[in-house]
Amino acid sequence: MTLQYKRLNAEVDEIPYGLLELADPSKSMVEDYIRRGQCYLAFLEKERVGQFVLLHTHPKTIEIVNISVEESFQGRGFGKELVLKAIETAKQLGARSIEIGTGNSSIQQLRLYQKCGFRIASIDHDFFVRHYEEEIIEDGIACRDMIRLRLDIF
Ligand code: COA
Repeated sequence: MTLQYKRLNAEVDEIPYGLLELADPSKSMVEDYIRRGQCYLAFLEKERVGQFVLLHTHPKTIEIVNISVEESFQGRGFGKELVLKAIETAKQLGARSIEIGTGNSSIQQLRLYQKCGFRIASIDHDFFVRHYEEEIIEDGIACRDMIRLRLDIF
């Protein structure tokens, strides 16, 4: 069940908006960071399973700005595999600090990231209220605050 990875070339390859939008409903934000960052697509044999996008935000700091698994492949361990691969790739790119953010209502993601070594670093209160027009509700919880997590490499 080994995943194969291929880096997306945003100039020539088709951008998998549907997959990216599973993690971020804002197409304009996706369009912005897909061109500035590096998107890695994961395949199981010929089928696309998921992706992650890395973005250099500060010297030696890389943020995982988007990560998602195709709905038909979710809940089978691929998300965890992608997070671990994103960490390895960021390290190879020279990161000493890796960041990831998620909504206060994204309980499964908060659990997954902490199990992969991330620790909560800060909370951007009302981030989603300021940046998204539609109200987001997950598991009956209003998504308002951005929880920023960080993994420092020693
Ligand atoms: N409910 C509760 N827990 C679940 C679950 C579910 N429906 N599906 C998976 N999990 C648990 C798993 O048991 C596992 O925990 P464990 O290590 O304790 O066993 C953990 O979550 C990771 O499971 P995994 O199968 O690797 O996750 P995944 O392949 O479903 O990928 C996401 C996780 C978040 C990437 C995927 O669900 C996704 O693409 N979601 C939509 C996009 C998104 O929210 N991206 C992140 C934005 S911050």
